[in-house]
Amino acid sequence: MTNSTPLTDPTPPAVLVVDDEPSTLVLLRQLFGREIPVLTACNGKEALAQLEQAHIGVIVADQRMPEMSGTELLGQAMLHHPDIVRIILTAYADIDTLTEAINTGKVFQYIAKPWDNRELAMTVRSALETYNLRRKNSHLLEQNTNLVEELRQANLDLRRENVTLKKEVSGGFRLDNIIGVSSAMKKAFQIAEKAIASDATVLINGETGTGKELIARAIHYNGARRDQKFVAQNCGSMPEALLESELFGHARGSFTGAVKDHRGLFEEADGGTLFLDEIGDMPLPMQVKLLRVLEEGEVRRVGSNDAIHVDVRIVSATHKNLREEVEAGRFRRDLYYRLDVLRVPLPPLRDRNGDVTLLAKHFLEKYMTRSSKRLAGFTTAAVQALSEHSFPGNVRELENEIERAVALANPGETIDIDLLSTEVVGDREVAEISNGNGSLRGRLRDVERRLITQELIKNNGNRTHSAAKLGISVRALQKKINLLEITA
Ligand SMILES: Nc1ncnc2c1ncn2[C@@H]1O[C@H](COP(=O)(O)OP(=O)(O)OP(=O)(O)O)[C@@H](O)[C@H]1O
Ligand SMILES: [Mg+2]
Repeated sequence: MTNSTPLTDPTPPAVLVVDDEPSTLVLLRQLFGREIPVLTACNGKEALAQLEQAHIGVIVADQRMPEMSGTELLGQAMLHHPDIVRIILTAYADIDTLTEAINTGKVFQYIAKPWDNRELAMTVRSALETYNLRRKNSHLLEQNTNLVEELRQANLDLRRENVTLKKEVSGGFRLDNIIGVSSAMKKAFQIAEKAIASDATVLINGETGTGKELIARAIHYNGARRDQKFVAQNCGSMPEALLESELFGHARGSFTGAVKDHRGLFEEADGGTLFLDEIGDMPLPMQVKLLRVLEEGEVRRVGSNDAIHVDVRIVSATHKNLREEVEAGRFRRDLYYRLDVLRVPLPPLRDRNGDVTLLAKHFLEKYMTRSSKRLAGFTTAAVQALSEHSFPGNVRELENEIERAVALANPGETIDIDLLSTEVVGDREVAEISNGNGSLRGRLRDVERRLITQELIKNNGNRTHSAAKLGISVRALQKKINLLEITA
């Protein structure tokens, strides 16, 4: 906006009368009197100064003035205050200048001298109305421009947010978010890098909870297909017919309940990756059908003969030894060869030297952030207990263990063995006792002391219940408590 008067100026706009003839000024001031505020100036320079100070809606200027003519003044006023309605008063038809001034927009209207008072009053009143309308319009336009700008900004923000989200999603599956420094894991990472760089079929092998799905996602979200879908299906958890229609889709009416055409996961994952989890548990007849799709690169929906071309990368996973499954006749050899192109073996956690501590710290950070609770870390005893545990449930078990400890801990606390599960701490005790160097009798007394203490804690010190659990009489328990100096 070039108009220097703020659009929201609350003072009513005035009429500025400019004439070198003082009598005209007096006349006009009287004409509008109380109805409209009137300001006056006796030359162009003074008028321009007034424009900068007051809220003016209409200028009525005499054409013939020394130094600066009326049209000159209105031309200058127009540059800085385009909304102001400009009227010229002219004593004789100075037609040429006037026409030029009107054509270039400098002048809105002209009034011939001597004027008719009523006519002049009407012209000025309607000029003021025009001015007010223009202001409203400009105000709306400005609001509009602001809104458009806000929208544009919001759009930009959204787009930026989207990009970060996308980065975060793939960032969550970045290889450097998969923790492991053990040589066993380093080998797995090397093969995973190869899988990322190629489009080969991948088979991930590992016990439960070793991170098979995590690796599968990392391979997809870091590879060439990252902008397409990653679709996962567990092949061991559903009846064959259902799995078939999940994977390949079905045509309407192909079986009772198939009321609509249904796209299968192969179509869903077209261009991307299909993760076939627990492939070792896929029923044999389904294995035949899967093999055909992989060989042909085409799927047929159940109940339809139309072949649909699909371009899908297969990443499968299993906790089973597929070679053994093949030997035992439970897995088709031909399918096995198709799937086992690039194999990523994920070692069990107990074989990953040094990884438990790193993973424990990683999960501690994760769950502290998630629960907005700060803890001081682990005690040496807790770290030792975790390192000595065999973790049959692998990384998932460790993750659950830490999540639980964080939930139980008070803010600022250091996680000690009392916050770890008996599975973890139990191992440590057995390890401690078997690594100890006391006599057999001494070590057995240690075991007895621990078992009785644990039982008493579990039963809140209730001796009758504890004795029953341990299979001894209350009297025998009491004797042991005294003998072993148990204080619980
Ligand atoms: N090396 C790792 N670094 C960080 N987190 C890991 C790692 N390995 C596994 N996890 C986490 O452990 C949990 C289990 O991993 P995932 O589900 O990938 O295992 P899985 O082998 O597919 O298990 P299952 O055989 O039971 O399906 C997940 O929360 C995963 O994020
Ligand atoms: Mg899994």
